Amino acid sequence: MMHNLTANILSVCYLIGSISFIIGLKMLAHPDTARRGNQVSAAGMAIAIIATLILYQSDGMHLHNYAWIAGALVIGAVIGTVAARKVKMTAMPELVSIFNGMGGLCAALISIIEFSRLVPASPMLHILIIIAGLVIGSVSFSGSMVAYGKLSGKVKDHAFSWQRSFNLILLTVVLLLGALLIRGGLPVSATYIFYTLLVLSVSYGIMFVLPIGGADMPVVISLLNACTGIATACGGFLYNNPVMLTGGILVGSAGMILTIIMCKAMNRSLLNVLAGSFGATASNVVSGKEEAHKEISLSDAATAMAYAKKVMIVPGYGLAVAQAQNTCHELEKLLQEKGVEVKYAIHPVAGRMPGHMNVLLAEANVSYDLLLDMDQSNAEFPTTDIALILGANDVVNPAAEDDPKSPIYGMKILDVSFSKMVIVNKRTMKPGYAGIQNQLFSQPNTSMLFGDAKDILQKLITEIKAL
Ligand code: TAP
Repeated sequence: MMHNLTANILSVCYLIGSISFIIGLKMLAHPDTARRGNQVSAAGMAIAIIATLILYQSDGMHLHNYAWIAGALVIGAVIGTVAARKVKMTAMPELVSIFNGMGGLCAALISIIEFSRLVPASPMLHILIIIAGLVIGSVSFSGSMVAYGKLSGKVKDHAFSWQRSFNLILLTVVLLLGALLIRGGLPVSATYIFYTLLVLSVSYGIMFVLPIGGADMPVVISLLNACTGIATACGGFLYNNPVMLTGGILVGSAGMILTIIMCKAMNRSLLNVLAGSFGATASNVVSGKEEAHKEISLSDAATAMAYAKKVMIVPGYGLAVAQAQNTCHELEKLLQEKGVEVKYAIHPVAGRMPGHMNVLLAEANVSYDLLLDMDQSNAEFPTTDIALILGANDVVNPAAEDDPKSPIYGMKILDVSFSKMVIVNKRTMKPGYAGIQNQLFSQPNTSMLFGDAKDILQKLITEIKAL
């Protein structure tokens, strides 16, 4: 009787946890509610963990090993809190990659433990879920670690000519071995095959992320994110735990939707991502000679903007580096006071993480209504007087449309050159993330305004105020 009651209370707690995830995820969709959405989901997770610790029973026994569990919780919470507090906004994707990799590792460890508990009568579905968790979790772990290394500049891009075929063969071997294990009746010990599968899956994760270079990392990161979600859902299925299952399915499906959106934005196919062959790496790109360019003075730029009808601001990674979002918002308000229509053109992969520019501008309280997505922006550039590019480079590089040899060829870009005038603010003529030169800088209607974005924006504000 008592046992039934605690089991029911636990189920209710799990239900609350699952619903909190769904509501939290929905709230994450808008900057105004995103912070609260994160808190709602975290509260749901806390309820699920506490309820498990207190109420979970198996064969009439509560959880034990409380000292180990508490120790792990404290260590994890301290590392997570310190890392999240200390990390700079621009290093967020690295942190996300590590966290994502840890999720994959946990899922793979669950599969390893559960494999050791298999008995001859274990149902085939159970074995299938264990194998899926092992393969997807370990690919996600090793892939995320390589992604972290590449994003932080510690790991260079590596590729060889037949890498695509090698990766596809490796993936096929992994799938075949997995299928053999599930089918049973193997000539060699299942344990031996299981650990071979583990090693091959880890290798595949490394091999498919290693060659991906230039502008294509965002797609890989969101795919790895989806993998961790699916691997976690496998764990939830094994332990019959609805919160883990719901959380995993939500992360897996959200990550997959994001991957598809990113693939569309970058004009890549999902098979190319899986084969780890798309986008030549920055190291093997011929950068070309530096483009000829003309510069504009601060006072000329300020005058042009103050007397324009419409200014479209194009934020990029450099704006985040300079932490110039508040100054940018100040310029926007000043121009609006002068009767200028100001909008922001947001490229889906501008910056270093999905939604980077949206988060950055939301931090400065820029109205969400002023942010246009890529298609909306491209429709408005022909009626724009000035496109003001602040620390963006790859996302406005015409090579994506004109140069089939370019590693970013096929990616959709913001067509800023349709504006009457383009002002590009960056510090030097150095290339952006993809490591390639940008011919936009030498086009007749483009002028360069060199300097740190924050410093330049502050000076522009002073100049405009003095007009
Ligand atoms: P990038 O192409 O990386 O260009 C950023 C530019 O900002 C650089 O050319 C740099 O030039 C300039 N910059 C740096 N610090 C600055 C400062 N303090 N003030 C002014 N300018 C500064 O950026 P993007 O156009 O936003 O494109 C993003 C790239 O990253 C894409 O290739 C994308 O695929 C990739 N990526 C995106 C993500 C996601 S999910 N968004 C994740 C990983 C990679 P100087 O050094 O000359 O100043």
